[in-house]
Amino acid sequence: MSVFHHRKGVLHAEQVPLPAIADAVGTPTYVYSTAALTERFQAVTEAFQGQKHLICYSVKANSNLAILGLFARLGSGFDIVSGGELARVKQAGGEPGRTVFAGVGKTPDEMAQALSQGLLLFNVESAEELEALDAVGRKLGRRAPFALRVNPDVDARTHRYISTGLKTSKFGVPFEEAVALYAKAKKMKGLQALGLDCHIGSQLTRTAPMKAALTKVADLYVTLKARGHALEYLDVGGGLGITYSDETPPSPQEYARTVLNATEGTGATLLLEPGRALVGNAGVLLTRVLYRKPTEARTFVVVDAGMNDLMRPALYEAHHDLQPVVKRRGRDVEVDVVGPVCESTDVLARARPLVLPRQDDLYAFMSAGAYGMSMASTYNSRPRPAEVLVDGAAWRVVRERERVEDLWRGERA
Ligand code: LLP
Repeated sequence: MSVFHHRKGVLHAEQVPLPAIADAVGTPTYVYSTAALTERFQAVTEAFQGQKHLICYSVKANSNLAILGLFARLGSGFDIVSGGELARVKQAGGEPGRTVFAGVGKTPDEMAQALSQGLLLFNVESAEELEALDAVGRKLGRRAPFALRVNPDVDARTHRYISTGLKTSKFGVPFEEAVALYAKAKKMKGLQALGLDCHIGSQLTRTAPMKAALTKVADLYVTLKARGHALEYLDVGGGLGITYSDETPPSPQEYARTVLNATEGTGATLLLEPGRALVGNAGVLLTRVLYRKPTEARTFVVVDAGMNDLMRPALYEAHHDLQPVVKRRGRDVEVDVVGPVCESTDVLARARPLVLPRQDDLYAFMSAGAYGMSMASTYNSRPRPAEVLVDGAAWRVVRERERVEDLWRGERA
């Protein structure tokens, strides 16, 4: 049974009825389940049992301190893309020594901070970035541990906005240039080659592209070792997909089988960077119906969550299931569930069959634990939602609802 389930017609998160949370903290509110987060982390851990590995949870998926802290306690490392994310990891009790740093635009300041805090690995994405990292290393009198993120030119067959492994993508260095770059880096005093990295995209639901990319990268790893580079880590990136509606992504076991088969014989310690797969289905966005608006063309249901709170539908035409918090009897009508934001793209669910809600009814957008709150903005001067973490029959606010005064912090009239 999912941790989010109806009991006597009322949607619960674990043992907590969602109306209790909505009444206490208002809406819109993100609600996460400790049990779901823990179960997913352990499922991936178990799938890789017997293989030297470190899960580096991808902070961008959901960077709430309570979630980072939970994963840190479960033994997770972290995958970050900014100095801000590194600061969050530390604040939550995570270790820089178990953290990898990717991104095409790391600043020298961010590099210096991370290096002096003992970062595990910089995943470097260009030749110029490699030079910049060398300069930082020399200035600090250390060798910066790095992996090149190579672009294997494999089509991940996911939404084009979240595909990263094609030649036309800004990510990684061209596969063919990697050997020469490692050779060049060997002569640089501020660098130490410690790994090889790739990431081909997100919300992957098929194993074939993973297999194709990792086989290429594992070959390159072996070549580099043979050329005398003392690599230890093979970072296979993140990207494992989840079920939003009817997708059938690989299970953690199938995923592990694919990764382990492709990287067998490298002797590397594997770094895994799952984000969505750990948090996506562990969270929902709770929202309340404001108005119904039947028109000639469509029936709109206006809710108090908007595209600023959950950007995925507007940005990727992503589907999030919608569950009534209290089930109603009746016949389905086709509705567009829209938010209050002044944009035509502020449609959170389009042409959805739904028993027509009443005003004040609560709904939950499902699978909103990943790239929900972490991508939320204050567009239209809307304070961002509160976040709640449920644990069994208990729950607590892990981020207060933003206040209106927070909106202009730092501004000068
Ligand atoms: N590692 C690297 C280098 C990445 O770029 C990403 C995601 C991850 C790991 C984690 O990927 P995951 O396991 O979560 O798929 N905002 C989009 C997803 C963007 C993903 C960006 N990179 C969405 O809402 O679908």
